[in-house]
Formats: sequence, structure tokens, C-alpha cells
Amino acid sequence: MPRTAIAGTGMIGRVHLDAVRRTGAPVVGVSASTPARAKEAATALGVERAFDSSEELVTSDEVDVVHICTPNDAHARLAELALRAGKHVVCEKPLTTSSAEADALAGLARARGVVAAVPFVYRYHPMAAEARARVRDGRAGEVRLVHGHYLQDWLALPEDTNWRVDAVAGGPSRAFADIGSHWFDLVEWVTGHRVVELTALTQTVDRAGGRPATEDVVQLLVRTDGGATGAVTVSQISPGRKNRLWFEVDGARTALAFDQEAPESLFVGSRGENVEALRDPALLSPEAARLSVVPGGHPMGYLDCFAAFVRDVHTAVREGGTGGQDAPSFPTFDDAARMVRLTEAVLASAADRSWKEVD
Ligand SMILES: NC(=O)c1ccc[n+]([C@@H]2O[C@H](COP(=O)([O-])OP(=O)(O)OC[C@H]3O[C@@H](n4cnc5c(N)ncnc54)[C@H](O)[C@@H]3O)[C@@H](O)[C@H]2O)c1
Repeated sequence: MPRTAIAGTGMIGRVHLDAVRRTGAPVVGVSASTPARAKEAATALGVERAFDSSEELVTSDEVDVVHICTPNDAHARLAELALRAGKHVVCEKPLTTSSAEADALAGLARARGVVAAVPFVYRYHPMAAEARARVRDGRAGEVRLVHGHYLQDWLALPEDTNWRVDAVAGGPSRAFADIGSHWFDLVEWVTGHRVVELTALTQTVDRAGGRPATEDVVQLLVRTDGGATGAVTVSQISPGRKNRLWFEVDGARTALAFDQEAPESLFVGSRGENVEALRDPALLSPEAARLSVVPGGHPMGYLDCFAAFVRDVHTAVREGGTGGQDAPSFPTFDDAARMVRLTEAVLASAADRSWKEVD
């Protein structure tokens, strides 16, 4: 079992810890923002070692796989150190806060031949995988339209804040880099289409203290390489919406709609009868059934997605790595670098009010 260590023990670091433990791999250590906090976290979480720094953790001889769960601005530096030390790396999104760094990291991961993964974990919802299978096997028909939104409310009030709001710790984009990237990774994965052109409008609300903040809202129009068009709203100021990632893919035969907050079913619309397809492994496509680890009617969710993602990543590590990015089942640094490029196109489009091509 690969010896694993986790840099950053905030909300998502603990989710990674739980997911790694579910694979049976040993978590040998954690790091935090200070040595004292790392000790506290190690004790609270039952982890043997508290590293004095994340730099020490990601280069340690005691570690095979590092999980980078720090604020965004530390990702690039820690991931590069880890790759150069020969580690397999799971790095949180956004992979970096600039596309030059993201492309360089993806290239370095390929050159090193290690596993380099980024948790765009919504791909691991069985009913999202079912939507993908229905596009791939032709049941949906040619995809003509993608639309939807990703809405949260935790920054709705003027006094709401977090390190993510700061353009240094969070990066120049917030709403899009933080959650819009999840929507696009998921919908590109489901449809097999890639966004080739976009135009975006951003909105930033006044926050207490009057400090400059990054965007709270992005409204987008997109065109894909498969000839589809799309419209998407991304917001972190939508009261009552906690983590509402919703998409619809309209094919020539059926429409498929998925709601991350109600992930046990998939809406299948048609000119005849509409169906709410339920997560029952006996009825699902093989990939969706593989992810469906308990029988229908026993609700699965976000933590199960994370566990499945980490299971796939650690399996690749145990089997000798993916040698780079040859079609592994999990989202890679290449996928994440693409989302950073998309993020930059969004900001550039909003800045000069134009359409931008995305490579
Ligand atoms: N994939 C997902 O679904 C998902 C969900 C949530 C967060 N994230 C990503 O995970 C990262 C962390 O987010 P979070 O919600 O856990 O934030 P958080 O604020 O809950 O936790 C971040 C932790 O990192 C610590 N930290 C700061 N500098 C550090 C350093 N140099 N080394 C180690 N620890 C350090 C902070 O003290 C804090 O405890 C972000 O990049 C975020 O975008 C991804």
C-alpha cells in the first residue's frame, strides 16, 4: 500500500484523509500552516507524524503519494517540489493560479511518469457517469446544447469572507476557478465535447472592509468543438443554494439532467415520457455500476465520490503509475491545466468584453 501524507488539514484535507483510509493505505503524516497546528491535527486525526512544514512532507523519503490540500497559492510550489522528489501527487483544484505554471506542472508530471491527479470528483457520482455512458453509447443522440449552473451562498453577505476571496491566496479568479472549473470539467467529461470559444460577464459585490475581491458571479456563453452551444451561471452569492451543481445536456434524442445535491437519480427527458432514472446498479451502465458501491435506495454522496477517486488514483500508483496521462480513469494534471486555461479565458473575456478562443 502506498505510504501517503497530506499537506493541509482543513475541510478538504480531512476528506482526503478519510478517503485514503478507506483504501487501506497508511497515512504516515500531515502538515499544517505551522508546526504546532500540524501536531494538533496529527493528534486529533490519529496520524503518527506531524511534519514541520509542507515542503518537508512533500519531499520526505517516508512518503510515496502526497495529497496537497492547502490554499490555492501554495499548490504550484508544493506540487513541483513533490514531482521533482519523484512522488505521486494528488493536488487540489485549482491546480495553480496561472496557466503557465499549470502547463509546466502537467509537462513535468508526464516527464516524471508518475500519477498526477486532481480531484474533480463530481465525475465519480454514479449518475453523472450514467449520463456520460448514455452520451457515449448514442442513447442521448448528438449533443446540441449544454446548460446549467453552479450556485453557492456562503459569500452572499457583505461580511462573509475567507482566504479564497483574497486574490493572492485564492488566485485572480474565485468563483470560476473554485467551482466553475468543476462544472466544466464534469460537463466536458460527460459530453466528450470541449469548449473552444467563450464569452463571460463577471460581477463582484462590495465586501465589508472595502478590500478588492475576486469575482462572485460569472455568466457564460460557450461553443464546443462538437458544435454544441451552452449557457452557464456560476455564483457564490445565491441565497439558499449550498452546493447546487446542476447541468443538462440536450441530445437529439434525449436530455440528461443531473443535480449534485440530489445525486441518486438522473432526469432523462424525451418527446415521449420523461423518466427519473434511479441509481440501481442492476440497471446502470458498467462504469456507473462500478461506482455504485451500495444497493439502490442507500444514498451515496460526495464522500463516496472522493473515496472512489482516491481508490482509482492509488490503484494506478500500486500498478506502477499511469506513465503520465494515458487515459487514466481519474482527472489528471492535464485536465486541471485545461481548466486553468479556461479560467484565464473567462477573466480575459470579461475584461475586454469579447469572445475568446480556448485551445
Ligand atoms: N475538490 C473539491 O471538491 C474541493 C472542495 C473543497 C476545497 N477544495 C480545494 O482544497 C484546497 C483547500 O480548501 P479547504 O476548503 O480545505 O480550505 P480550508 O481553509 O478549510 O483548509 C486549508 C488549510 O490549509 C492550511 N494551510 C495554510 N497554508 C498551509 C501550508 N503551507 N501547508 C499546510 N497547510 C496549510 C490552513 O491553515 C487550513 O487549515 C483549496 O485549494 C480548495 O480549492 C477542493
